Amino acid sequence: MAYLTYKTVAVTSLQSSLTPCIFDDDPAERDLLAHLITDMGYEPVLTPDPEEALRLIRMGRCRVVFASTHLDNPAPFDFLDRALRSDPDVQVMIMTAQYTLEGALEAIRHGAADFLPKPLDQVRLKRTLDDLAALTDQRRRVRSLEEELLKDLEFHGIVGKSPAMLEVFDFTRKVARHYTNVLLVGPTGSGKELVARAIHLISPVGQQRLAMCNCSTMVDTLLESQLFGHVRGAFTGATDTRPGVFEYANGGTVFLDEVGETSLAMQAKLLRVIQNREIQYVGSPEVKQVNVRLIAATNRDLRTEVFSGRFREDLFYRLSSIQIRIPSLAERLEDIPLLVQFFLKKYNDSYGKSIAGLTRRAQTVLLQHPWPGNVRELENVISTACITATGDSIDIGDLPEHLQHRSPRLAGEEDWRPLSLEDVRKVHIQRVLQMCHGNRLRAAQILGIGRTSLYRYLKRDGYAARPRSSSATA
Ligand SMILES: Nc1ncnc2c1ncn2[C@@H]1O[C@H](COP(=O)(O)OP(=O)(O)OP(=O)(O)O)[C@@H](O)[C@H]1O
Ligand SMILES: [Mg+2]
Repeated sequence: MAYLTYKTVAVTSLQSSLTPCIFDDDPAERDLLAHLITDMGYEPVLTPDPEEALRLIRMGRCRVVFASTHLDNPAPFDFLDRALRSDPDVQVMIMTAQYTLEGALEAIRHGAADFLPKPLDQVRLKRTLDDLAALTDQRRRVRSLEEELLKDLEFHGIVGKSPAMLEVFDFTRKVARHYTNVLLVGPTGSGKELVARAIHLISPVGQQRLAMCNCSTMVDTLLESQLFGHVRGAFTGATDTRPGVFEYANGGTVFLDEVGETSLAMQAKLLRVIQNREIQYVGSPEVKQVNVRLIAATNRDLRTEVFSGRFREDLFYRLSSIQIRIPSLAERLEDIPLLVQFFLKKYNDSYGKSIAGLTRRAQTVLLQHPWPGNVRELENVISTACITATGDSIDIGDLPEHLQHRSPRLAGEEDWRPLSLEDVRKVHIQRVLQMCHGNRLRAAQILGIGRTSLYRYLKRDGYAARPRSSSATA
């Protein structure tokens, strides 16, 4: 074994959380420092081999390294660079017999925690170690507090602490006991299915069945048979009579995902279920009564769809008597640290890892990303990073390429053109509307103008006004 554990003395739990690594090719100097550090109550490991020291850092065994360097070395900071790449949170103290002020500044610029002249000043050494032990302990406590907080901020498996998500939880809790139809609106990956499951669980029929059907993945004939069932011989391949999801979930809940993708013919059939509570098997004249609650979800703006004739207005009003809007992740960046903790726990458990968090620079990258795939995209990023990370934290290198190389930009800088103020206003209104998925009330709030003014601008810009809606939006 290339390193030795030095004689152990009684150590407090605070000190034991820090295992200093002494990396020095001079055995006498190494032993001397080991004595000093052991007498201060710490348990150092010693090695003359830089590769061994780097391995200990990668394994997360040592959070502090005392590295001896000779400034005549052609690459004095090579070890420091590699140590920080292995674990960006490791504290590397450079020890040197050739101390200069410029050398110290250069080391700190390279990321060293300190630059110590040899022979080491014992008082300074003890203070440095005690400070680092306290810092490590503080980080551990913060992490455990965050885990506690996570438990409190989880609503049936949905994590969030932003005002927008707390409002979703609150509204969900209120409507779940009373609804018959709910429409969930939100961009892809924002958590609509999770909210649907929560609504069903809290509802009075939470113990009954929840049946799910994704309306976008099937042609009409297949979807009809999935939803309402079919009799034997109704179409080629219908070798037996089968119930559909409405009958299967009778007494419970049906979740219709991507309802905005259904054809007008299918919408007429859905309207019949909602209005009359009756279904008909494909190929059968018999009408059956069903009693289900309906949760529908869409990432389209159904009002626009109604306006353009692609979605039945009567069905839209039936579905959206209660509407819950799940905000995009970009609208609630403050949820990211909590979601990261949640997914770290999930994937640490799955992959048998013990990654404690993200480095500060990796956190910054996550906060600057626009997250077009919302929470699903964040979950994928963390799950992949959990596989690739070798230390106990995720660093920039563990994030996908397109996140790593994204430099922070000023809003609008990417497509700046010399436009008139009037043109800028037009473009800006359209961008805000897009961000709000066509919700004009919300767009007007963000733009700081009244809804009537927004309609006036849209009319002036050649966008026709739409009928007013009476649906409630969370
Ligand atoms: N607030 C959240 N807390 C924890 N996990 C979440 C949260 N929101 C979404 N997820 C996770 O993100 C993934 C996508 O969520 P979900 O399937 O509910 O999104 P969706 O809005 O239904 O997406 P789509 O429109 O593409 O169907 C799931 O793995 C889900 O568990
Ligand atoms: Mg979904």
